[in-house]
Amino acid sequence: MTGLINKKVLLGISGGIAAYKTAYLARLLVKAGAEVRVVMTEGAKAFIQPLTFQALTGHPVHDALLDEEAEAGMGHIELARWADLVFIAPASADLMARLAVGMANDLMTTLCLATSAPVHLAPAMNQGMWQHPATQRNCVLLQELGYHLLPPAEGEQACGDLGPGRMPEPEELFSRIEGLFQTKQDLPAQGLKITITAGPTQEPLDPVRYLSNHSSGKMGYALAAAAAELGAQVTLISGPVDLPTPPGVQRQKITTTQELLTACQNVQADTDIFIACAAVVDYRVEEVAGHKIKKQQDQKELVLKLVENPDVLATIANSQPRPFCVGFAAETQKVEDYARQKLERKNLDAIVANDVSDTNIGFGSDDNRVTLLYRQARTIHRLELPQASKQQLSQQLLLEICKLYQANQDKQ
Ligand code: PMT
Repeated sequence: MTGLINKKVLLGISGGIAAYKTAYLARLLVKAGAEVRVVMTEGAKAFIQPLTFQALTGHPVHDALLDEEAEAGMGHIELARWADLVFIAPASADLMARLAVGMANDLMTTLCLATSAPVHLAPAMNQGMWQHPATQRNCVLLQELGYHLLPPAEGEQACGDLGPGRMPEPEELFSRIEGLFQTKQDLPAQGLKITITAGPTQEPLDPVRYLSNHSSGKMGYALAAAAAELGAQVTLISGPVDLPTPPGVQRQKITTTQELLTACQNVQADTDIFIACAAVVDYRVEEVAGHKIKKQQDQKELVLKLVENPDVLATIANSQPRPFCVGFAAETQKVEDYARQKLERKNLDAIVANDVSDTNIGFGSDDNRVTLLYRQARTIHRLELPQASKQQLSQQLLLEICKLYQANQDKQ
């Protein structure tokens, strides 16, 4: 709690039904000792009264750009300079679009252009609006401009639809803000070097074809982002995926399993925790064809001879200096049984059992649900982490992994 005392939080509210939740967020922030000033758009005032926020924060709400009285008090530039953090919840599709093109046609957008404080947005809108290519393009633009976006939650919406677009609950937004003000020394992964593998590997058959799998990289990239946010020095070794490098993360690109192994071995001595999330292709063709394999006339079959690839994780876990090793087990049946076997067989400290038979979680999805299996005092313990976005789940996983790593260090 202490991290928020006297911190200046400028809470922005735009037009959306989720604005009612922001009242509770304001209350939590004030209770934790933050100084809170509220800026509302015209749309926001259609959903909730400024008086509510005035009563909760003890300060009048700012809502007009060209208001002589307001400018005589704390003008918009002064407000922009005052803030340690600008946190906009809910951020409507309209506000996001205006910020993405750099408009300054009301107090909120003007402040966002003028401030040097970090600006975080919690988008909230109907699932169709959220998934519309225009909104998704605006998300990319906003991130390129340095805005921080919180992924919206999925579920039943006020309009009756089901899907992504709900604003996370106020308690979750509060802990997010609290986390932003944690000093580096407080961060659980501060000083740790974490290497994470992500995405698929690809094994060429000829110059135009390859063997691979459906890994999108979302889980591994979310883990890398969470590890960096928790203070770790992160190396992300990634197969071919279409995702930007998370802030503060060092990324190395690989294609084949052998390249993945070499990249991991190169950083092994400089790694405290190794997390293998990549979906690694277990076999490659014995000989890659120098030219495109041509289909012969009437050819009904093509036989490829495959040979085993190295097991990257097992190699790292069984060589010195050995980092704390965490694997993932992607399974479609007997998920936990097979995960336990992999934990033993590969000599791991922990493994994340991931049921990929459910298309709502696992490969390519935004959400996941996993069970963390870990060794402690010669027994294997289990911790179920319920379905959540890969971002949220990664934070929980990283916190648990850091605790296990520390306990392991304390034993030595
Ligand atoms: O990328 P997304 O679309 O977000 O999907 C996420 C995911 C489903 C890929 C991820 O959550 C996951 O489960 N990753 C592990 C996939 C996998 O290859 O599982 P496995 O059970 O085949 O392998 C077990 C472990 O050994 C894994 O940590 C794997 O990285 C590692 N391994 C496997 C084979 C091999 N030759 N070398 C390895 O290092």
